Order: sequence, then structure tokens, then C-alpha cells
Amino acid sequence: MTSIPAEFRAFVAETVGDGVVRGVREFGASDLPDGEVEVRVDWSSVNYKDALATIPGGKVARISPLIPGIDLAGEVIASAEPSVAVGSSVLAHGYDLGVARHGGYAAYARLPAGYVVPLSRGLFARDAMSIGTAGFTAAMSVAALEDRGLAPGEGPVLVTGASGGVGSVAVSILAARGHEVWAATGKASEQPRLRALGAAGIVPREETTAGSPRPLESARWAGAVDTVGAATLPYVLRTLRPGAAVASSGNAGGAALTTTVLPFILRGVALLGMDSANLAIEARRALWERIATDLRPNGLDDGALGVTEVDLDGVEPALDAILAGQSRGRWLVRVAG
Ligand SMILES: NC(=O)c1ccc[n+]([C@@H]2O[C@H](COP(=O)([O-])OP(=O)(O)OC[C@H]3O[C@@H](n4cnc5c(N)ncnc54)[C@H](OP(=O)(O)O)[C@@H]3O)[C@@H](O)[C@H]2O)c1
Repeated sequence: MTSIPAEFRAFVAETVGDGVVRGVREFGASDLPDGEVEVRVDWSSVNYKDALATIPGGKVARISPLIPGIDLAGEVIASAEPSVAVGSSVLAHGYDLGVARHGGYAAYARLPAGYVVPLSRGLFARDAMSIGTAGFTAAMSVAALEDRGLAPGEGPVLVTGASGGVGSVAVSILAARGHEVWAATGKASEQPRLRALGAAGIVPREETTAGSPRPLESARWAGAVDTVGAATLPYVLRTLRPGAAVASSGNAGGAALTTTVLPFILRGVALLGMDSANLAIEARRALWERIATDLRPNGLDDGALGVTEVDLDGVEPALDAILAGQSRGRWLVRVAG
């Protein structure tokens, strides 16, 4: 028995020969995987990983055809799990969603109960997907830095790739919590928005991507959120203050990492890895509670977070913009209607 209509609209990516064919089409409920909870998807979002899931050689998609969309929010329409009520608002992201299991770019989804996060009071489904996986990762990064001892007033905190999804939300949450945030960005046009989100200062991207023969440089940052990797993470490591940490979540600039051990052994700095996809469900639910309250980003309501809303037909151009490094803020997908 299913409450999902026999056919519904979905954005699908399918490997054909050496390429990937992408587009909106009708999809059958019988082709959805098993799961205890059925959801009418109202909102999803576009993340960097979604872009990788829809290109040849992206090394993210593990099934074909695939409905991408690594996150979704909507209303429960059927549930075999007593703790998940029909009619309740929920979200889900990570694990196999949009990778090895059909994801959020469809009018309906069927999920394991262990993926489901109840939406906290005060956080609507649209807000949740405006934050999405990228914003969740930003919140995870801020929580990890603070758990390790970073406190407001300790000194400047750097966010790299600041105009992007993870970066924008990280700037916003850090500023809302009273940290002195510096935004590293390659986009001059985004500087006013980043200042509106609370950035105290801007660092030009050239400064954070330039290599250096020196293993240690002037110790400037009390903490950092790095979404870029490549040459940027070594820059961060050699400019962190003694005992400071960087939360590393991304590779928007590339995955290679060439550094020395000297920041670790002479300054005691720490490299904290962020893996939002596999965070255990109890920790995930607890962090979303905090995102609705003390880790809530500013800018959701006044446009400063840089949320661009598209429908399912607008997903493909959004994926291309992300791959071209042209993103600003977050891409929100209106799935329903
Ligand atoms: N670990 C996790 O759980 C997790 C979760 C979500 C995302 N991620 C990863 O985090 C990264 C960022 O994701 P996102 O959603 O924020 O992506 P995004 O919206 O595309 O933002 C990435 C930003 O990085 C900067 N950038 C792009 N290309 C660059 C280059 N070649 N060199 C230096 N900077 C560059 C740009 O910011 P500026 O123009 O402002 O410099 C861009 O806006 C991605 O690698 C993504 O896969 C990881």
C-alpha cells in the first residue's frame, strides 16, 4: 500500500553512454525504494554534491537513473513508524539520499524512518531548505569550533568560499553568535551582502589561494571554516593562532592537500573534519534543534543569505552555476506546485 500517486514529476539524471542525460519527467511510484515513511516533498535545495551527482565522472551518483537532491523537506503522508506522525513536517538529508537512493527533486519521496528529522517549532520547511545541507554543514562547523574552545571575543574567525552556500551560512551564524568574522571571497560584488550578514572584514581570495614557501606565517586567525581545500587549507593552517582549529568541509577549489606538519607540532593547531552526510541521526536531530534556536542564521528573512528560488525546471541551470563557481548563497527548490 502506498499513498504516493502512480506517477509524479521528478528531475532525473541518467547515465547514457559516456554522458548524463538530465531533465524533468514523469517518474513511477513503483520505482521508489522501500521505506517506512512517505513524504510529499515541498522544498529541496541545490548543493555542490548535487552538481557532482549529475555530471559524467562526478563520482557521487551510485545508481542510474537517479533522482538527485541530497536534502528535502515536506509533509508526511504515510508512516509505518509510530514516532513519525502523518501530517507532520519533516526534513531529511545525507546518508544515501540523492546518491544511492532517490532524493529531493521529486514531488514524493519514500524514506527509512532513521533518515527523518522532525521540523522544530519556528523553523518552516522553506527555511529548513534555505539552510539545507550546506547550512547544516556550516552549523556543524561552528559547533565543532566552539566545542573545541573557540569563544566570541577571542579574535578573528575566517570563512573561505564565503559567498557560497556553506560559507554564507557560516558567516551568518558566526556573526549572530558574536564572533568577529572575516569572509574570504573571490567575488567583489558579494562583499556588501557578506557585510550585511555580519562580516567584519573581507579577505580577497587571492590572499587565501596564494602558495607560500613558508610553513608558518603571522598567526592571525582564532578559528576558521574552510570550504575550499586545495591551496586554501594550507594557507589557513599556516596562519592559525596557536591552539586554534579549522573545520574543513569542502573542496570547491580542489581535493589535493599539500602542507607541512609544522602548524600541528609547533602551534598545536587542529584540523577538524566535517562529514554532514554520515552524522548519526540523533546528533543530526539535535543539531537541527539548535539551528532553529541558538545556531539560527541571520538573513533568512531579509535576503542577505542570498537565497535564489527555482522550481524543478530551474534545477539544471542551478547545477551548472554551482559547477562554474558562480553560486551566491543558497539555491532553494520549490518542488510542490
Ligand atoms: N563535508 C560535508 O559534509 C559537506 C557538506 C556540504 C558541502 N560540502 C562541500 O563544501 C564545499 C562548498 O559547498 P557549497 O555548497 O558552499 O558550494 P558553493 O555554493 O558552490 O560555494 C563554493 C564557494 O567556493 C568558492 N570557490 C569556488 N571555486 C573556487 C576555487 N577554484 N578556488 C577558491 N574558491 C573557490 C566560491 O566562493 P567565493 O567566490 O566567495 O570565493 C564559491 O562560491 C563543496 O566542496 C561541497 O562539496 C561538504
